[in-house]
Amino acid sequence: MTITIGIVGTGNFSEKHARILAEMGDVNVKAFCGTSKQKADRIASEFSAKGYDNFDDMLDSTKLDAVYLCVPPMAHGQMEMELIKRNIPFFVEKPLGVDKEIPGAILAEVKKKSLLTSVGYHFRYSESVQRMKQVVGSQTIGMISGQWVGDMPGVYWWRNQDLSGGQFNEQTTHIVDILRYLAGEVDEVHAFFGNRIMHEKAESVTVADVGTVNLKFQNGIIANVSNACISPSGQSSVGVTVYTNQGNIDWKPTVLRMETGNDKATYNDTTDPYFIENQAFINALRTGDASLILSDYEDAFKTQQVTSAAVESAVSGRTIIL
Ligand SMILES: NC(=O)c1ccc[n+]([C@@H]2O[C@H](COP(=O)([O-])OP(=O)(O)OC[C@H]3O[C@@H](n4cnc5c(N)ncnc54)[C@H](O)[C@@H]3O)[C@@H](O)[C@H]2O)c1
Repeated sequence: MTITIGIVGTGNFSEKHARILAEMGDVNVKAFCGTSKQKADRIASEFSAKGYDNFDDMLDSTKLDAVYLCVPPMAHGQMEMELIKRNIPFFVEKPLGVDKEIPGAILAEVKKKSLLTSVGYHFRYSESVQRMKQVVGSQTIGMISGQWVGDMPGVYWWRNQDLSGGQFNEQTTHIVDILRYLAGEVDEVHAFFGNRIMHEKAESVTVADVGTVNLKFQNGIIANVSNACISPSGQSSVGVTVYTNQGNIDWKPTVLRMETGNDKATYNDTTDPYFIENQAFINALRTGDASLILSDYEDAFKTQQVTSAAVESAVSGRTIIL
């Protein structure tokens, strides 16, 4: 059975998912919807698909088994609600929104219909994160530290707090999601955000450029996750270190290093987590079995609650209890 897909967004991540889907057998990327017909037609032509500049027109004129939403945080809301109304499963790129308000309303509707969803927390599908989860599962975690430090992405919406929700919501959400995957649910959040460099270096920057967030988990584990978008172009430091009763476990995207007693071991990813993530969603569409999907809308909403609480804490100066 050929699975037919429509993709919303004509940017980097629409193309990324479209290329992966096009490589799979029996998947047909049939339509792209963008903010202009010209941009939609341009990407559609690369995949022998049809371009649209109106979401409802795309849904009315093409029978789609699922829709991918690869749009910036501020663009979420109406499209998800329309898909739910039409019972069309969807894959949505992280984060779910600028804050937790619209995602909360979407989640309530998703639950009423038990609609199949998947969210792009792709690190969960990487071998190194799977291995880390397996290892820490048999140890006692004391504390975790994580960070996402890099340069400021060039797209206009990212640097605008109202459009992206800021770095902790937009990028560092990946780290928060990994911590939840390893350590369970968070119940307290306290954040400091600062404006140090980028406001003088680039125009129209309304997001904080440094931040540090303390988390307390329900099981007593504590964590700190820091982020900054002040680095020179191309420099980055992204990762997680888990301190357990048996040693230190250090993860960076694609590589896991473990030191327990005198033992040291390193594991490198050999597979592409984005491919596995897409495969899991397509398999669920085909079989109705969603067990390979590691992040659905309901789970991802819990990550959204934590990142939103961090923003709320930084603004109010209070600890937020979830
Ligand atoms: N999982 C990952 O590793 C990963 C990596 C990069 C980006 N992303 C996520 O993917 C999303 C998109 O990022 P990107 O890099 O493709 O951004 P981008 O700026 O390159 O593209 C965004 C696209 O969305 C379109 N768009 C904006 N508002 C729209 C609307 N209301 N209706 C239809 N289209 C609309 C824009 O025209 C543009 O084509 C973001 O949420 C980002 O966080 C995820």
